[in-house]
Amino acid sequence: MSTGRIFGAVAAIAGEIRAGFTDRRQAEGANPTGDEQLAADVRADRLLAEELLAIESVAGYASEEREDVLDGGAGEYHVACDPLDGSSNLASNNPAGTIVGVYDRRPPAPGESLVAAGYVLYGPVTTMVVAEEGEEVTEYLIEDGERTVLKEDVRLPAEPTVYGIGGRAPDWPDSVAAYVERLEEKRLKLRYGGAMVADVNQVLAHGGVFGYPMLEGRPEGKLRAVFEALPMAYILEAAGGASSSGTESLLAAAPERLHERTPVFLGNADLIEALEATVEGR
Ligand code: F6P
Ligand code: MN
Repeated sequence: MSTGRIFGAVAAIAGEIRAGFTDRRQAEGANPTGDEQLAADVRADRLLAEELLAIESVAGYASEEREDVLDGGAGEYHVACDPLDGSSNLASNNPAGTIVGVYDRRPPAPGESLVAAGYVLYGPVTTMVVAEEGEEVTEYLIEDGERTVLKEDVRLPAEPTVYGIGGRAPDWPDSVAAYVERLEEKRLKLRYGGAMVADVNQVLAHGGVFGYPMLEGRPEGKLRAVFEALPMAYILEAAGGASSSGTESLLAAAPERLHERTPVFLGNADLIEALEATVEGR
């Protein structure tokens, strides 16, 4: 069975997730890694769990918003979601997204067990970018629960123009600060919005690099491996780009805990190569 049904279901409820933002921008609690949880996060998580577990081929649902995996039937796919990435952007009416990773093993699972990944971007319009095993990356427009193809064979542009690196600059290791200086010397422009999906999507559109690095006192960075880093790495690599934890491709990572964090760098292959060289002191 293909993973297409999973993304069809995500497209079908994206509008409903988006419609729930209006009166759900207030805090409601904290998620398992301590991030503030909005009512909109909780609702998106519930909608995704219901719809995805109803699909026969889905064996389980894991989410950044829940401590443990929800087991389903005897299907072959294990779906891991960040239901509402960048939800702190809702308060200021900036973009947010939904990240979906499809693994062929129960998470926490290694990057190499991803068989598909996609994300929805709730921007001025709602779009979805999907990478399925053996297929080119496709961008869709989502309207009224239906998806229509906007762009086939999405590839990172060869000439990169934008970058965005998270965390406070004084907390970056010297190597990351030196790397950012190099990006400026290459005349890349800083574009950082604080929602991974939106920040990575503009890297896909314009070429460049997105990073959330290791920080002083927080060597694991901020982003979660299973729900954020690995699925987005799968998409970027399928689009001809590269990913790194600082030393190797994120798809080579094997998280041991469901909510484990990792430093993340995604973008044009030459820029990721330069990042690894800088971090390793080359
Ligand atoms: O999900 C975590 C997240 O909101 C990402 O979407 C985003 O890249 C990052 O945190 C932003 O963090 P900060 O507020 O530190 O820039
Ligand atoms: Mn997130």
